[in-house]
Amino acid sequence: MSEHENDASTSASAGPWSRYWASGVLHSCPGAFAGNYDDEIRDHWLAFFGGLPNGARVLDIGTGNGAVAFLARDAAHTLGREFHIEGIDAALIIPSEAAARHGLTVGHIVFRGGTACEQTGYPDRSFHAVSSQYAIEYSRVGDTLNELARILKPGGRAGFIMHHSNSKAVETTRAEIGIFDYLRQEAPLIAACRRLLAGLAESGDEEQLLDRLTNREAQQQHKEIAGLLQSVTAYARSQPQAAFVEGIAVQVSRTLQRTPTTGPAAALDSLTVLEDEMAAHRERLQAILRAAQGGPDVERFCQSAVAAGFIVDTPQVILRRGEDLLGWTVTATRES
Ligand SMILES: C[S@@+](CC[C@H](N)C(=O)[O-])C[C@H]1O[C@@H](n2cnc3c(N)ncnc32)[C@H](O)[C@@H]1O
Repeated sequence: MSEHENDASTSASAGPWSRYWASGVLHSCPGAFAGNYDDEIRDHWLAFFGGLPNGARVLDIGTGNGAVAFLARDAAHTLGREFHIEGIDAALIIPSEAAARHGLTVGHIVFRGGTACEQTGYPDRSFHAVSSQYAIEYSRVGDTLNELARILKPGGRAGFIMHHSNSKAVETTRAEIGIFDYLRQEAPLIAACRRLLAGLAESGDEEQLLDRLTNREAQQQHKEIAGLLQSVTAYARSQPQAAFVEGIAVQVSRTLQRTPTTGPAAALDSLTVLEDEMAAHRERLQAILRAAQGGPDVERFCQSAVAAGFIVDTPQVILRRGEDLLGWTVTATRES
């Protein structure tokens, strides 16, 4: 395969992530880290990669738009070493665009989208180290650990940072899913707009449209929508993720405001796009919750790693500024 290639046979479950990476973000926590991962996460990876010799071959799995692969290169540069770095992801990825937005270049790093970590296609004993930041826990863990044991050289190192079920990121994820539930069950704003627009879309000509826009039924529907918008705005004020809820309300209001100009069919299309985005976002949030690890999960993870042929260090938690729980760290060595 050539550098930076996306395998088109990527699985459907990667769809929400492909959409996310297509937006050009560099990593999965843009709300917490404006540039690349910083602070303790950066320090952790610099220390992990810093233990590798010159010429080491490094693979970052579930790499997304390559944040940890870029940190591997930073570690090599800091130490005056060269690593051969590759990043794979089941989703379609665009690291070069994400990099450009952050003043980075892909350079010699090889990225492969559409490549599952359970079956990488690399020859046995290909790498000195494998890294995974919030990634292996999304995969079939036993299969992935067997695969990593196969492609690592004897004595090779594996480093994992995994979601912690009590971390801030996971708490935020739960809250955002609650917002989707609220918008669907308690304040069905989009459904109300659809009803109004579907009625308007039946107009044969402009005159009929103007008539329908002002008739009694439409006025009642407008009133209902205004009430729902008010509820959503009030709800947003009670939420730490206010901007997220307000963003949805603003998009809906704008679509409605533009309807006399764009026509109801285009407005309905805009709502479909918004709903698709919301569905993909929700699917991604649910994947995060499924991936989040409690203590017993991490214990099972370590047992699977031992069964796959790793010597596993005791799991640790990683905190930001000594307070915010970022996740679990597990490091392991491929048995010789
Ligand atoms: C939370 S994101 C983390 C991305 C990146 N490591 C970061 O920290 O920015 C999880 C990534 O794992 C990928 N992923 C999930 N299951 C996978 C699998 N079986 N094989 C490879 N990648 C997978 C997703 O497509 C997604 O890009």
